Amino acid sequence: MLEQLKAFPENFLWGGATAANQLEGAYLEGGKGLTTVDLIPIGANRFPIALGNLDSFEPKEGEFYPSHEAIDFYHRYKEDIALFAEMGFKCLRLSVAWARIFPNGDDAEPNEAGLQFYDDVFDELLKHNIEPVVTICHFDVPVSLVKNYGGWKNRKMVSFFETYAKTLFNRYKDKVKYWMTFNEINMLLHLPYIGAGIVLQEGENKEQVLYQAAHHELIASALAVKACHEIIPGAQIGCMLAAGMVYPYSSHPEDVWKAMDKDRESFFFIDVQSKGEYPGYTKRFFREINIRIDLQPEDADILKQHTVDYIGFSYYASRCTSADPEVLKNSTEGNVFGSVKNPYLEASEWGWTIDPKGLRITCNQLHDRYGKPLFIVENGLGATDVLLDDDTVEDDYRIAYLNSHFAEMAEAIQDGVELIGYTSWGPIDLVSAGTGEMKKRYGYIYVDRNNDGSGTLRRVRKKSFHWYKEVIASNGAQYF
Ligand code: BG6
Repeated sequence: MLEQLKAFPENFLWGGATAANQLEGAYLEGGKGLTTVDLIPIGANRFPIALGNLDSFEPKEGEFYPSHEAIDFYHRYKEDIALFAEMGFKCLRLSVAWARIFPNGDDAEPNEAGLQFYDDVFDELLKHNIEPVVTICHFDVPVSLVKNYGGWKNRKMVSFFETYAKTLFNRYKDKVKYWMTFNEINMLLHLPYIGAGIVLQEGENKEQVLYQAAHHELIASALAVKACHEIIPGAQIGCMLAAGMVYPYSSHPEDVWKAMDKDRESFFFIDVQSKGEYPGYTKRFFREINIRIDLQPEDADILKQHTVDYIGFSYYASRCTSADPEVLKNSTEGNVFGSVKNPYLEASEWGWTIDPKGLRITCNQLHDRYGKPLFIVENGLGATDVLLDDDTVEDDYRIAYLNSHFAEMAEAIQDGVELIGYTSWGPIDLVSAGTGEMKKRYGYIYVDRNNDGSGTLRRVRKKSFHWYKEVIASNGAQYF
């Protein structure tokens, strides 16, 4: 007899996802050191720095750094968590700022004030029955590791990261059961400074540098998986992919191949983290462009033995490519990933393609490829919201976006995909990682703050706040 599956499993983890550098602020409080993101301003210099083409080791006069105050979660976390609890969150994804724990990255002892801050945050979450889901590194490397060691170019980063991860596991072993190593690990190839604290030097072979750094992160990730399993029995630790399939622009085999090849640029990371070895297509790529990865004798074993428990991923959009240079001319750079415009799909105000069906496709693709539980740890619509006089935000466009994605998630579950949970990006408005703007809002909760740092930081419930509360209360049932 055919089994009729319920849409969302009983213990499905509904919630939201955040990152320390995009919401905490208090960038030098409690003994915190400077991180890479603290030195990425909004404005003209943002992309050259994020891409690793321009260094930025000290704050500069005349620049505005959005992470310094962000939305001040550091001082307002109780109020914010109470709002998440009011929506019925089962979990909150958040990251630890590495430089709160090790201000310089290579300190002999961790910073107690930083450790205590996250103890307080986790306690507050648990008080409200909200499960913390912790990303160990979400884009912010202590900047002195970049200055003194060259960031992830350097193998020494592996042991700094391992020490940092072990410190977190030992300290929070009774409070945190869900972990993730690196946020969007494949972003290292696209935004090297944000992804891996890499500043490219004149004359360096970019691919060689990036893939060597990737190797270091992959080893560090596997060692964190090992430590997590040893220190916290029963914990789950995952990887995190910036996902979203690359479609072929046409059915021409050259287009299909190009799309597959593009997808593999990202899958490479997860293939290693989940299957425990370098895939043949990457080895061929290295041979063809003459990349030689510096490997230690123990590396193959480390990768093989310590693979992730689940596949975490962000999904905002699908992309599209072609082997035809003429078609490629019609590309957008709406996201850091370029894409040929897909004639069948609309895009957001920021040029990100809106493709709910792509979420079902991605879920199925990752399920077929890895056969492990999946966790959608980012998804959402960045949009300009208007705060009305009666203190409401009528964000029906956000509700429509999320609704259509939830329907496809439910389909994916019916397809047999094992989905642990869903955390929408930025449940409270926070700083955009890409542009540094506040104007690009994702939240259910509006924050009165503008791109230039003005505003009262007041929190206001949007229409989507009440809607998401109902979604969670019904465990997504209204979608069936
Ligand atoms: C992901 C990141 O790339 O997308 C988040 O993990 C980021 O940090 C999110 O904020 C949305 O991107 P953006 O540029 O709109 O903030």
